[in-house]
Amino acid sequence: MTAGELHSEALAALEAGSDKISLRQQYLGRSGKLTELLRSLKNLPEAARRQAGAEANALRAELEALFAEQTAEVPLEAGWSEQSVVWPTMTGHLHPETQFMRRLISIFQSLGYEYASGPEIETVEYNFDRLNVPRDHPARDIQDTFYLTSAERNETGETELVMRTQVTDMQIRLLENRRPPLRVMYPGRVFRNEATDARHLSSFFQFEALVIEPGANLRQLLWTLNQFAEQLIGRGAKARFRPSFFPFTEPSVEVDITCLLCQGKGCRVCAHTGWLESGGAGMVHPNVLREMQLDPAEHVGYAFGMGFDRLLMLSTDIPDIRLLVENDIRFLSQF
Ligand code: DAH
Repeated sequence: MTAGELHSEALAALEAGSDKISLRQQYLGRSGKLTELLRSLKNLPEAARRQAGAEANALRAELEALFAEQTAEVPLEAGWSEQSVVWPTMTGHLHPETQFMRRLISIFQSLGYEYASGPEIETVEYNFDRLNVPRDHPARDIQDTFYLTSAERNETGETELVMRTQVTDMQIRLLENRRPPLRVMYPGRVFRNEATDARHLSSFFQFEALVIEPGANLRQLLWTLNQFAEQLIGRGAKARFRPSFFPFTEPSVEVDITCLLCQGKGCRVCAHTGWLESGGAGMVHPNVLREMQLDPAEHVGYAFGMGFDRLLMLSTDIPDIRLLVENDIRFLSQF
């Protein structure tokens, strides 16, 4: 068919009241009649091709205008005015990470904890020194910590300010303004110089809590974490301790909680153990108590800290941690 023939055919169909959306498809779609014609032009001899090409392109412009005009002009139904059309409204909501953090906060509120938050830029002194993390501890390796170069360098070449690598810095800060007894939680963003992949980001969230009160002991901490597991995961969920080491606690333990996917039955995510590694804990180290201006002979305390991005991901089926920082509305609007 020539461009002229297609022209009359299309106009006749339009006249007869054919649906314009399907006409558009029929003529201008990927294997539409005009599209095919344009494609076949390359087989014509030079002179004929120029002539037929011009006609076909002019027809394309004309049909596009005709069909476009058509689809834009959807008439309102009788009795409806422009004003009575209700446009869908979209309202915002909290980011899934904030929602999850608030859930953890309310669980610990129910257990009698106060809330506090601290600075994301921290001195080496609070982030490491005063937490009994010696200068040669691997955690202080430049690979793990973001040092802020604008600060002054001290004698070992480290700069004075860091992006906090843990919220444990708050243990010292809290005790500057108050005395025991206290039960405080302090969730927040922390930073580590790590390679990014589906499970790691250079910035993530920790939830930590500190208790200093007479008679504080690890059994109380385990009871607390059991309560936490039950409220987060459901009846029968538990926490358990495994021996470990942290510079700021003695003794130190690793905390596992019942796998939130299989409820402890064992699955691929928990490597069939029924448990998820979730954080560290222990009795506050005597050196840290001294940094808090407390006499270790008189005061006892316990603390625990955990990263909660993974718990959030597992409980909401988020496969890749990077989704949490990309701010794609198609992702965020699902929560
Ligand atoms: N700050 C530790 C980390 O980032 C976690 C931690 C362990 C916190 C033991 C604590 C604790 O409060 O007692 O790996």
